[in-house]
Amino acid sequence: MTHSNAYLTAATTGAALLLIVASAHGADRTAASAAPKPQAVAPPPAFATCNTCHSVAKGGPNGVGPNLFGVVGRAAGTKPGYVYSPAMKGSNIRWAHAKLDAYLADPKAVVPGTKMMIPGIKDAAKRSDIISYLETLK
Ligand code: HEC
Repeated sequence: MTHSNAYLTAATTGAALLLIVASAHGADRTAASAAPKPQAVAPPPAFATCNTCHSVAKGGPNGVGPNLFGVVGRAAGTKPGYVYSPAMKGSNIRWAHAKLDAYLADPKAVVPGTKMMIPGIKDAAKRSDIISYLETLK
């Protein structure tokens, strides 16, 4: 019965190929989860205060403040659908790390007239944690 033998061989080869594919896929997944994956990063404790006014979900809503997904590298005052203060709209800022750091330390000093009413975060380590987190939201 050459015919069924050939079939068996093909079936076995197929199964072996499947195993190879499956284990290669497994290796891929391990490598991917070992690397820092943007979406997998949890917000630092210091971010809890931001959450009351800002959503960080991709495509998420604006709240009291604008949605912050993708804010790092974005021009200030440009999130569609959000009504900014004239001060923020006219600020000509692009949100790089250093600008965010200064703004979070003292919002009114960097954007006089901003309607983000927080006193500012004095702890540099907390600001750094927050900004590193914002950088993953892309
Ligand atoms: C009480 C509400 C409130 C809290 C708390 C708050 N924000 Fe805001 N945030 C705002 C508002 C309102 C604006 C819009 C400011 C404007 O138009 O002048 C804003 C604007 C911003 C912007 C500029 C966004 C853009 O699209 O240009 C960033 C960045 C930002 N907030 C980050 C933070 C971070 C990080 C925290 C936590 C440390 C935080 N905010 C906490 C209300 C808040």
